[in-house]
Amino acid sequence: MLLHVLGGVFVIATVAVAQQACNGDASLCNKPYNQVSYLITHNSYASMPNVAQNQHYDVNTQLKDGIRGLKLSALKSHNNSGVELCHGSCAILDAGPAHDTLNTIASWLNDNPSEVVSIMWNNLGNFKATELQAEYQQVSGIMDLLYVQPANNLTWPTLSDMISSGKRLVNYMDVGADQYQVPWLHDQFSYIFETPYENHNDSQFNCQIDRPQDPTNTEEMMYVMNHFLYGSLKIGNLPIELPQPSITNDTNGQALNNHADNCTTVFQRPPNFIEVDFYESGTTFQVLDKLNNITYTPKTLGDGSNNQKSVNETSSGTDSFGETALDTAAALAFVAIAITILC
Ligand SMILES: *[C@@H]1O[C@H](CO)[C@@H](O)[C@H](O)[C@H]1NC(C)=O
Ligand SMILES: *[C@@H]1O[C@H](CO)[C@@H](O)[C@H](O)[C@H]1NC(C)=O
Ligand SMILES: *[C@@H]1O[C@H](CO)[C@@H](O)[C@H](O)[C@H]1NC(C)=O
Ligand SMILES: *[C@@H]1O[C@H](CO)[C@@H](O)[C@H](O)[C@H]1NC(C)=O
Ligand SMILES: *[C@@H]1O[C@H](CO)[C@@H](O)[C@H](O)[C@H]1NC(C)=O
Ligand SMILES: *[C@@H]1O[C@H](CO)[C@@H](O)[C@H](O)[C@H]1NC(C)=O
Ligand SMILES: *[C@@H]1O[C@H](CO)[C@@H](O)[C@H](O)[C@H]1NC(C)=O
Repeated sequence: MLLHVLGGVFVIATVAVAQQACNGDASLCNKPYNQVSYLITHNSYASMPNVAQNQHYDVNTQLKDGIRGLKLSALKSHNNSGVELCHGSCAILDAGPAHDTLNTIASWLNDNPSEVVSIMWNNLGNFKATELQAEYQQVSGIMDLLYVQPANNLTWPTLSDMISSGKRLVNYMDVGADQYQVPWLHDQFSYIFETPYENHNDSQFNCQIDRPQDPTNTEEMMYVMNHFLYGSLKIGNLPIELPQPSITNDTNGQALNNHADNCTTVFQRPPNFIEVDFYESGTTFQVLDKLNNITYTPKTLGDGSNNQKSVNETSSGTDSFGETALDTAAALAFVAIAITILC
């Protein structure tokens, strides 16, 4: 009888261990962090109905579904002395203070102890690294999760090393990193290069190195394959760039598969980070699992909500803009970003 009980306990324990796969699959445990492919959401926070929305589901749902990289934009806002998550300008899309989203990420990681997640900051507000740190310090339980990779070191631990150490949140910033003062906020372009982010046509994605202009070590650095589209819309003669949800089944389907195959050939290894809009569309996880040499298991994505924005998209027309809630100030701000950087 006692043996039976113990046997039962043993079976449960075994099952628990088996479920402790690394980022969803046991075969990834022994792979170094830089030899795994991850799906990363472009403007992860931008999931509220809005003409500039890049995602239909919030960050918690993204993580639940298997997104393991989050691209966040750090902006200054009139109502926040810290970091606000906004799409280009807070007049267009304001997702609130960064510490709220960081709190979501930290809670999710604490509930899911076998997962490794990366955050990439687009520092549009030119914050200092210490200002980003101050934002993290407001979040319960996040500081203990922060992984530190030494500067100029391109040899990464395995996922299972990271999981057993508990250091499972890897952070990068595109400009303004200072690893002397804030060692865990890595200078993105010292570790990672990326393909162009400005793409307008499914058949024109390429595998060129766009940023940084002159990477120190293309053989060993990781890379982001940017794979999202902007459609252009004109207000008068001014082009405005908007995400394209109406065609993401194509963008995130065959076009994604082809792009990943192409980049795998060009760089002789699969992309580390595949950055997409509307990740639930197309065949994103099939493509990812193929790159990670994992058998794809169909799963239901999303949270049942319908965050689709209430206006119709067009890839080039002018008809949808008038229906949006954007006021003139926001529209002008959009023009400003379209002209500068919409990343
Ligand atoms: C700033 O205002 C926007 C609405 O205009 C709101 O969504 C956001 O949460 C506010 N941020 C802070 C830090 O209060
Ligand atoms: C580089 O980082 C890895 C992982 O943290 C570590 O094992 C290795 O010793 C480091 N190499 C050097 C030269 O510091
Ligand atoms: C996309 O590119 C292809 C090939 O370069 C071209 O034939 C097609 O017209 C382009 N589509 C749009 C909408 O610009
Ligand atoms: C994308 O494909 C899904 C599944 O086939 C379908 O339910 C959805 O309506 C499609 N979306 C668009 C915008 O075509
Ligand atoms: C892949 O590469 C081929 C040949 O270089 C090119 O014709 C095709 O457009 C590329 N497709 C994508 C999605 O990158
Ligand atoms: C892919 O996984 C299979 C087992 O599922 C293994 O036999 C094969 O060697 C792996 N291929 C690569 C390239 O890792
Ligand atoms: C979007 O366009 C379709 C067809 O043109 C129309 O039936 C639908 O009502 C439109 N939706 C919104 C929210 O405007």
